[in-house]
Amino acid sequence: MKSFIENLPKAELHLHIEGSFEPSLMFKIAKRNRIEIPFKSVAEIENAYQFSCLQDFLDIYYQGANVLQTEQDFYDLTYSYLQKCATQNVRHTEIMFDPQTHTSRGVSFKTVINGISNACEDAKQNLGVTSLLIMSYLRHLSEDDCFKTLEQSLPFKDKITAVGLDSSEKGNPPSKFTKVFEASVKEGYIPVAHAGEEGDADYVWEALDILNIKRIDHGNNSLQDTKLVNEIIKRDLALTVCPLSNTALQVVSDLKEHPLQKMMDLGLKVTINSDDPAFFGGQVNENYIQIQKALNLSKEDLFRLAKNSFKYSFLDTDTKNKYIAELETYYQNNK
Ligand code: ADE
Ligand code: ZN
Repeated sequence: MKSFIENLPKAELHLHIEGSFEPSLMFKIAKRNRIEIPFKSVAEIENAYQFSCLQDFLDIYYQGANVLQTEQDFYDLTYSYLQKCATQNVRHTEIMFDPQTHTSRGVSFKTVINGISNACEDAKQNLGVTSLLIMSYLRHLSEDDCFKTLEQSLPFKDKITAVGLDSSEKGNPPSKFTKVFEASVKEGYIPVAHAGEEGDADYVWEALDILNIKRIDHGNNSLQDTKLVNEIIKRDLALTVCPLSNTALQVVSDLKEHPLQKMMDLGLKVTINSDDPAFFGGQVNENYIQIQKALNLSKEDLFRLAKNSFKYSFLDTDTKNKYIAELETYYQNNK
């Protein structure tokens, strides 16, 4: 099963580039920029990665991102993630980035977007990995602040496919961002949002009905409400599920208790993703491997999950079909 998963062509649809920041690269960039970080070694950083909830994690995640300053830093961070994609048979990835984490420290939007998008271009040429970018608004900040980010993004619109909503969910419902999402959609961005990770089903309803999202990040708590589940199925929206993130942030107590199989049985379209791989103990393949083991998923289940990852990506139809054909051939030859 392990090698079946490792060789399975797949896409990743829920990945925060700041969450792919490995401790070793963090040290290298901190040294290059002559920035002090409050850890002496990689082991010390890894030891600090014990979380009791989403906020616990976010506090450390934003701290790590502080060392990123130059276009080269954002390039190195992104290219390093894309190299891992190539070794994991991730053919396509949709990368979230949090501009406000950087612009609030005086790093320009241009520095962030150019570093990330140049790495994506090079990875397409050199590694054959394709990518799209999702600009995520930080929901603990004000809607006005998000409007500033939207403005800053406009000269780089051709490099950005979608807008997302992340950070501290509880107390920051989707309805807080009604206007900025409406304006973002007018600019041509596709709306997605984290919903139902720690927030209840009513947050998912708001994300659907008010933000009109086209994909749900996490969505676990949708299962609280049968009517909502049926609505998600009716709208044919996919959930970007992140098993190792869910256990690391104690959204789920144990992988054996993970609702993924239940979601699939109900008819929800599910994908498997890593969220913040440097913090949660594994890239996308480790997520597939561990959830397969915990829930005893079949090869057919894994094939369906990988197929969803291409089908519910924001790629054009021809590219989607090309990837799905490759996946189908792989499955026929290896099932
Ligand atoms: N930012 C990075 N990872 C996140 C997550 N799992 N939930 C909300 N915001 C995030
Ligand atoms: Zn996330």
